[in-house]
Amino acid sequence: TGTVTVDPGFMNTASCESTITYIDGNQGVLLYRGYPIDQLAEHSSFLEVAYLLTHGELPQHQQLAGWIERIERHTHLHDNFKALIGAFPTNAHPMAVLSSAVSALPGYYPESVDPFDPATVELATVLLLAKAPTIAAYAHRRALGQNMIGPERGLGYIADFLRMSFQPTAQHYDVDPVMAKALDVLLLLHADHEQNCSTSTVRIVGSAHANLYASVSAGINALSGPLHGGANEAVLRMLTEIQADGGDATAFMNKVKNKEAGVRLMGFGHRVYKNYDPRAAIVKQQADRVLRALGKRDEMLDIALRLEEIALHDDYFIERKLYPNVDFYTGLIYKAMGFPTRMFTPLFAVGRMPGWIAQWREMMLDPATKIGRPRQIYTGPTTRDYTPVHER
Ligand code: CMC
Repeated sequence: TGTVTVDPGFMNTASCESTITYIDGNQGVLLYRGYPIDQLAEHSSFLEVAYLLTHGELPQHQQLAGWIERIERHTHLHDNFKALIGAFPTNAHPMAVLSSAVSALPGYYPESVDPFDPATVELATVLLLAKAPTIAAYAHRRALGQNMIGPERGLGYIADFLRMSFQPTAQHYDVDPVMAKALDVLLLLHADHEQNCSTSTVRIVGSAHANLYASVSAGINALSGPLHGGANEAVLRMLTEIQADGGDATAFMNKVKNKEAGVRLMGFGHRVYKNYDPRAAIVKQQADRVLRALGKRDEMLDIALRLEEIALHDDYFIERKLYPNVDFYTGLIYKAMGFPTRMFTPLFAVGRMPGWIAQWREMMLDPATKIGRPRQIYTGPTTRDYTPVHER
């Protein structure tokens, strides 16, 4: 009905109205429910932001305490569920483990799948936020062939995630508060980014009234693509190569500008931000703080700083409005914390969880929602007669 036009990549198609996240790419502005990202990164926490995104307002004191308490109460995984993770080969990518585990959750919590019962949706929200770090930490340990270490209440969501990831079996482990703060900030910065590929996936799956877990699991699979969640890995590979070639940032940048073999400066440029990504500025500060606290002078950070310095004063990048994006410095922090490169995208997924949930909830409550069903323009053969196989 009406004229249908093709819009590859949905560059000019708004799929919904939303009250959650605002981005002004020209000014480098990012707001969650109206609050500037830099204020939230400085004063708030990942779980408070998760409440803000999923419920629309910052929680009152008692609401926040109750929210954190409920989430921490559900961080444990059922023994059979652990067996499911343990059944993966150790070389399985942790994103495959994470998406499979999230798909499996409704099998263990069948009472939490009704998309239209508010109490059920709230339970599924809490369960997903509670279990995601435990699953991610288990996936990380599984990949290293280590025993899984269960959650411990009272340490705090982020500190316990670090402990579950890194505590040597049967040994005490003190979580470094600088690391915990940095991880909290990084997850918060990833918490939502309006209608990106994985979030649009969550919405389209949910538009068929699939449950929250099924929708989020689809989002995790979308995030696994290197054009989306995988860019932080690519930055680290690039910095490793530059370092191995002698650390000459200028020579590398010349290759980028001459478009030699399609070399791009990974972690730079963005479809929406045509100014400094406000998240990148905060991540840069955290990278500096973490590396200083660890007393590690990472040569790769120096290379990254040199690349940025060149880019910010070079006509090639200025003309094309290419600035660092959120991925430019995140990998360096995750690496300094001790996470292997394969864990970078699962960390992004743990951070994006509140956004996926909030967008799914908003869609379910929106009376304008219809099943996602784009049109197409058919370019195949016109009608022709079938011929039996022996006559072809
Ligand atoms: N290095 C060198 N040149 C670049 C880069 C870069 N990183 N990004 C864009 N350009 C050039 C590009 O070659 C083109 O030049 P010309 O006009 O001479 O042909 C111009 O800038 C416009 O680029 P585009 O590819 O049309 O821009 P886009 O909006 O389609 O692409 C992007 C956006 C993020 C895919 C791209 O900037 C890129 O490939 N960046 C590197 C990968 C990266 O860091 N991705 C993470 C994105 S943020 C996280 C997320 O959303 O998941």
